[in-house]
Amino acid sequence: MLVYAPPHPLIKHWLAILRSEYTPSPMFRSACAELGRLLIYEAARDFLPTIEQQLQTPLGAVADATLCDPTKPIKVVPILRAGLVLLEQAGQVLPFQETYHVGYVRDPATLQVRAGMGGGGRWATAYLNKLPAKLSPEDLFLITDPMLATGGTIVQVIEDIVARGGRPENIRVVAVVVAPPALKKLADRFPGLKVYTAMIDEQVDERGYIVPGLGDAGDRAFG
Ligand code: PRP
Repeated sequence: MLVYAPPHPLIKHWLAILRSEYTPSPMFRSACAELGRLLIYEAARDFLPTIEQQLQTPLGAVADATLCDPTKPIKVVPILRAGLVLLEQAGQVLPFQETYHVGYVRDPATLQVRAGMGGGGRWATAYLNKLPAKLSPEDLFLITDPMLATGGTIVQVIEDIVARGGRPENIRVVAVVVAPPALKKLADRFPGLKVYTAMIDEQVDERGYIVPGLGDAGDRAFG
């Protein structure tokens, strides 16, 4: 499994803004969106299907052109809540995309997530799943979630995609910070996966928060 943290000063800058406890909610959201734009740009490198054409420039000259293939839109999967902020500018990076929202919340007592529409208990774990019932092995996916902590959430979402016919090799994950437990779980199950992040942090505490981390990204973005 590839885990890539681009060594870029802009990525470090926006990560620092997100880490600071003094960053207010509106600035947290805009920094997260900007970081998402930069990471999605990196994740899209050698991932977007393209077509070769020739076109005419205003000078009447003919130029060879490479364009993103409109018949193969990237399926963007934001994991609610905070994954929404991370993909806010994806539309400006990816010319052709479709968005499939997925909502998961961890049980704060066990840090576990469950597939399906939770129901009954106080903590519905999967409360929204807009993935189509059937996916093609050729489909390309980009999942956004600011934090991969224990890895329970991201593993469940990838399994949702695989159960519908998608292939892990065609999935790229964009996250702000990731922690070793999540990376180990992902590498064991999906060796062909590629993860793009601003930073690999050291650990996950007993409450399931990444340390040093950002705090609770969903709460910081939406209150
Ligand atoms: C956070 C985060 C991830 C998940 C990571 O979401 O945004 O989705 O936890 O944890 P894991 O790797 O241990 O599964 P949370 O469940 O707090 O929901 P929220 O985004 O709505 O706040």
